[in-house]
Amino acid sequence: MENSSNNSRRSFLIKGTLAALSVSFLNSFRFPAAHAASAPSLAEFNPEGGTFELPKLDYGYDALEPYIDARTMEIHYSKHHQAYVTKLNEALEKAPELKGRALPDLIRNINELPEAVRNAIRNHGGGHFNHSMFWKLMSPTAKDSKASAELEAAINAKWTSMDNFKTEFSKSASTVFGSGWAWLIVDKENNLAITTTPNQDNPIMDVAALRGRPILGIDVWEHAYYLKHQNKRVDYIADFLNVIDWNQVSKWYGER
Ligand SMILES: [Fe+2]
Repeated sequence: MENSSNNSRRSFLIKGTLAALSVSFLNSFRFPAAHAASAPSLAEFNPEGGTFELPKLDYGYDALEPYIDARTMEIHYSKHHQAYVTKLNEALEKAPELKGRALPDLIRNINELPEAVRNAIRNHGGGHFNHSMFWKLMSPTAKDSKASAELEAAINAKWTSMDNFKTEFSKSASTVFGSGWAWLIVDKENNLAITTTPNQDNPIMDVAALRGRPILGIDVWEHAYYLKHQNKRVDYIADFLNVIDWNQVSKWYGER
């Protein structure tokens, strides 16, 4: 009797474990992008009263000189980024049911957005997300910043050294055809990867070729460098490496 009771308890436990495992297994298919679609937490991604605003710049337009010139910073931030914010808000006026959603939620599933505003939210929501990250990951005190031990170990494991990573990242950024971005992402298996997106797409979007959580990105639209570097994108990329705030990148890497 006791054996029978033990057996049925064991059978119950085994069945329960198998059921839990199969639910977890099924969920891994049902929500394959749940982790990959998470994003750095930036307060400005939560629109006040349903309206997005240009985030505050933490430094002056000339603070990244000589690598990024003041005029480029001013136009890039106050004109280009502002235009993405304005046009995103205009698109949301046409789809008020979407107002109030945080930006990552809004742009995560482009294919599920109403067709009338899909492209506008993809382009301008992507533009707002990408540029908000971009200002944060650069800093006038970049030279004093350092990758965390955890991030450095992950970079070394994947690319053998920080210098090799920078070479590969620069190569990807230089070969983006036309306008777009190059990214360092954390994929759904928690591995680092370098990827690129066209236009204002982002790796958290369901339209991205490789999805993941971006922790570093470089804008390679000509508006990001043309005034100082003209057509020499490679020189701009080399300059950009000097203004990466590795403390910020490490912070995003640590947000799991
Ligand atoms: Fe830009």
